[in-house]
Amino acid sequence: MKTVVISLGGSILIPTLEKNKIKEYVPVLEEIAAHHRLFVVVGGGGEARRYITVARDLGIDEGTSDEIGILITRLNANLLVAALGDRAYPKVAESHSEAKKFAESKKIVIMGGITPGQTTDAVAAVLAERVGASVFVNATSVDGIYSADPKKDKKARRFDTLTPDQLLGIVGKAGLGAGSNVVLDIVAARVVERSHIPLVVLDGRTPEHLSRAICQGEYTGTVVSEKKKKILPL
Ligand code: UTP
Repeated sequence: MKTVVISLGGSILIPTLEKNKIKEYVPVLEEIAAHHRLFVVVGGGGEARRYITVARDLGIDEGTSDEIGILITRLNANLLVAALGDRAYPKVAESHSEAKKFAESKKIVIMGGITPGQTTDAVAAVLAERVGASVFVNATSVDGIYSADPKKDKKARRFDTLTPDQLLGIVGKAGLGAGSNVVLDIVAARVVERSHIPLVVLDGRTPEHLSRAICQGEYTGTVVSEKKKKILPL
């Protein structure tokens, strides 16, 4: 049994409350958890962005807006915990230590955000370090890391593999305001570099992509690793 940490972007799981994919994700997470020790970090999605936009309009500082974002990630995480029922530990972990402790139950452990100035990708990257994960999977709304934003630039090309150093070069150019929208935040990229834990970035808009990638090794995405060896299936 290997350990897997998934950063499940809020824009994937709960783009809006009404368009949430929680029902579709439940069997997928159950399938992965049947074979591996599983931790899932849930993002804020559209609801977090809406709150942060309103906070900014009210002249509220970025740190406080981040705190509001964190509350939304935890609210989303609570919805996933409830939907998973007995398969998940019944409380959202509010620190990495708590997540480790909850994992002793052998249930799926769910987290949201924890600290201002970062995103849930950074939470997941550090969690991967703390629990000795074999892989850190970032499920997002693009099928990998591109040379430019593929939604804006037609010439953007997807990387099949990157070294952690190359990843830092790419994400280092993006900003880090509350609600910032980059494929992986810079804090997460730095942690990936120091932890030597392979990162796989893939398209989570279709939930089955995750189980197919982790359990069968079939996926389209970007692998960030120092070594050239095959990362998935585990
Ligand atoms: P997300 O991790 O969801 O950020 O956290 P995101 O980049 O918008 O990701 P997607 O779209 O959900 O995939 C939402 C916001 O909550 C705050 C930040 O403001 C972030 O942009 N946050 C989250 C923190 O400040 N700290 C955390 O640990 C987590």
